[in-house]
Amino acid sequence: MKGIGIIGCGKISQVRHIPEYHNNPNARLVGYFDLARERAQQMATKYGGKVYDTIEEMLADPAIDAVSVCVANNKHAEVTIAALKAGKHVLCEKPMATNIEDCERMVATAAECGKYLMIGQNQRFAKAHAEARRLIKDGVIGRVISFRTTFGHAGPETWSITPGPGTWFFDKKAAVMGVLADLGIHKTDLIQYILDDTITAVTAKISTIDKKYADGTPIGVDDNAICIFEMAGGAIGTMVASWTFYGQEDNSTIIYGTDGIIRIYDDPACSLKVIGKDSKVQTLDIDRIQTNDNQTASGVMDAFIEALEAGVEPPVSGESVLTAMRAIFGSLVSTETGRRVEVNR
Ligand SMILES: NC(=O)c1ccc[n+]([C@@H]2O[C@H](COP(=O)([O-])OP(=O)(O)OC[C@H]3O[C@@H](n4cnc5c(N)ncnc54)[C@H](O)[C@@H]3O)[C@@H](O)[C@H]2O)c1
Repeated sequence: MKGIGIIGCGKISQVRHIPEYHNNPNARLVGYFDLARERAQQMATKYGGKVYDTIEEMLADPAIDAVSVCVANNKHAEVTIAALKAGKHVLCEKPMATNIEDCERMVATAAECGKYLMIGQNQRFAKAHAEARRLIKDGVIGRVISFRTTFGHAGPETWSITPGPGTWFFDKKAAVMGVLADLGIHKTDLIQYILDDTITAVTAKISTIDKKYADGTPIGVDDNAICIFEMAGGAIGTMVASWTFYGQEDNSTIIYGTDGIIRIYDDPACSLKVIGKDSKVQTLDIDRIQTNDNQTASGVMDAFIEALEAGVEPPVSGESVLTAMRAIFGSLVSTETGRRVEVNR
């Protein structure tokens, strides 16, 4: 049985972390911390456990074996490193951190402290993604030539626990990056996972086109990110992340190979489609992707607890996300310089 502390009790904690730990027989929710104390109190009342006055107080509690870090992006590294140094395993939400030095420090600290660090890249757990990875490995569509992966919705202002155009997701200081780090990191990590390959060069255009604060001025972070990724294995493709897909979310990935095509989560009728070179279509309806309006169990917390119970490295280790984070930061350099940027070489 693992004792769990929750740091940050906003939307992602409330819809995924806390209920998924609550439903796991090997996890016990020991306590909560949030800058907004009443939010921590609501969770303690609903799920049991205590409220801490400070993060330090939580981290000093021997009843806590591991913490979930679900705070604003700019605090991921600081809180994660403090928790690791206090002897706690950490499940940190994406984006891992806001610069590569912090990401690397998180990984190094976990190693130094002998603790596990997992990052909440839940897209790897969506069943059709795992199945696509397996099919590609089995050579079902031959050698992968190109891909397009997309994650877009109408924006985080209807998602956050403090909704509206004043959300921290639009605040450069707290979020640091916009949709690139919010949705783009999901698909950047995912494409490497599905293809079992590494991004080695990026060319990106990252813009703030439409989102505005309440006073009508443009938000301080990006609302659209279009990236071209070149993979070590020779494939090339696009990663599009957007907060301006008004009306319908797009969470799709399409992989084009020498012997066919795999389409994932791009048809509401089936989660995975394999289209052979002969145009024969095979459909697999495995599951529905989680959306802001369709919250199903992510499986992330179960995987974290299972690994801790077994004393092994959880899937989606911090180290395994570093290459995707380098592609994200490389994309920022690319858009600033107007040049193609090599990464992970
Ligand atoms: N894996 C996913 O699909 C996914 C989805 C949404 C959000 N997230 C990530 O989860 C994190 C939290 O996002 P959210 O949607 O829950 O936001 P939110 O605005 O709903 O909640 C954030 C909470 O963190 C608290 N907080 C902020 N800074 C804090 C600090 N220093 N110490 C303690 N509490 C603090 C706030 O008071 C608030 O309660 C973000 O990094 C976000 O990118 C991941």
